[in-house]
Amino acid sequence: MALNKADALMDVAIRRSFLIPSSEIYGSPSGFFDYGPVGAAIKRKIENLWRSEFLHKEGFHEIETSLIVPEAVLKASGHAENFADPLVTCSQCKNKFRADHLIEQSENAKKEHVKAAGLPPAQLGELIQKYAVLCPQCKKPTLSDVGWFNMMFRTNIGPIEGNTAYFRPETAQGIFLDFARIVRNYQSKLPIGIGQVGRSARNEISPRQGLIRMREFTQMELEYFFNPKDQSHPKFGKIKHEKLRFASEEGQPQYIEIEKAVHTGLVANEIMAYFLWKVERLYLSCGIPKEKFHFRKMPKEETPHYSKGNIDLEVETSYGLVETVGVAYRTDFDLSSHSKHSGADLSVFVEGEKAKVVPHVVEPSMGVDRLFWCVLEHAFRGKTPEKDWEWFDFPPAIAPYHAWIFPLMKKDGMDEKARQIEENLREEGLTVYYQDSGSIGRRYARADEIGVPYCITVDYDTLDEKSDKHGTVTVRFRNDGKQIRVKIGELSSKIAHFVKEGKVRDD
Ligand code: GLY
Repeated sequence: MALNKADALMDVAIRRSFLIPSSEIYGSPSGFFDYGPVGAAIKRKIENLWRSEFLHKEGFHEIETSLIVPEAVLKASGHAENFADPLVTCSQCKNKFRADHLIEQSENAKKEHVKAAGLPPAQLGELIQKYAVLCPQCKKPTLSDVGWFNMMFRTNIGPIEGNTAYFRPETAQGIFLDFARIVRNYQSKLPIGIGQVGRSARNEISPRQGLIRMREFTQMELEYFFNPKDQSHPKFGKIKHEKLRFASEEGQPQYIEIEKAVHTGLVANEIMAYFLWKVERLYLSCGIPKEKFHFRKMPKEETPHYSKGNIDLEVETSYGLVETVGVAYRTDFDLSSHSKHSGADLSVFVEGEKAKVVPHVVEPSMGVDRLFWCVLEHAFRGKTPEKDWEWFDFPPAIAPYHAWIFPLMKKDGMDEKARQIEENLREEGLTVYYQDSGSIGRRYARADEIGVPYCITVDYDTLDEKSDKHGTVTVRFRNDGKQIRVKIGELSSKIAHFVKEGKVRDD
């Protein structure tokens, strides 16, 4: 049977060392993926682009906090009580399913475009009856009452039972817990930005769609702490006339000027707007075409318990629209609650007001794995008359290697010279990979298949002192296969320049 587009891409991703199903030799529990060497290199570059855009260019702090957090933290944050998905059990086969997904996927409800996400269990139970939703295993109306299932992975700290803790469901909580110390140590004034890249875990009832709904995943989260009396952003003036694409009730998403989006209340304040613009920049840098994603203001029932308003980013993929970013106006929900539960003072002295203020927070939060999948989807290219192989058109800044290097043939000193250049380029900070097996055409194809933007080849002219090309190598551009000659001594600076320019063809 032919694979659908998403399954075919997953197959390519596994065969070409982008991804490896976790614990594969023990049967791969669903909801977990490892990154192979190619995927890990791309993922790291995406994370570093985020660091550059969201932390370094803004002068914000990066921290790294614990994965395991005591129960008290998650009681205060509301996750112990609210972080749950609706669960329904089949009374016959005893299998358990996510109730809202089951309803939305059932034939009868699909015809009426029923939206079940965010509804309480009682209403979901009514919809199961109304649309005669069947157990997907037994194909019978044997689904029992709907209840809640808390999605956090639970553990115990040390050997004493009752010292309950959880694998964090979001990296954000660690930032709220460390906030006061960072403010003290840096004698910071508002606004302050603190972010981190790290793993989180959610015990999904039915993980699905590859990297989209995983049980363990990486988040990139920034918490921007500000005085609630000043909801302006110092850089708003620079971006206010730019346009962002927003979902609209009328159908096609519409481009709306940022200033107008704030004035009409579509976006809560300048700070939210500024970070939406940053999100767009990051997505464009990762090669996701502008017309393939849009922002959507989330309805109240789909807004997380801590948020006064969320604007999510949705990307077109072969799974349909996938939510990949949430920009939340968390207000003082977390700091006030942690202050109340722990007794710690989490306010900041505001000189102008001669008073202490509990800051409000805007949080741009995104999943790296979902972005990674969107990058794969939008960079994948089929065979063309010029290329008889499927390949990836990654922006050079996030490609897995800067370049691959080959000797034209593995003889007459070309291999030694290529090895020497490889070592020098690595010393100079480029990620390069030496290959000498197979024909040169086949090696170019293999590099294209994982999206390497440049191939360097050492040929006879490189070594021939009588040739006017002596001391030069060819550099082949991935997208048009054209080649230029470059002096060996200028290779690293030229390649670094091409990467910066995003150059993938010789024009
Ligand atoms: N911090 C937001 C989220 O994890 O969804």
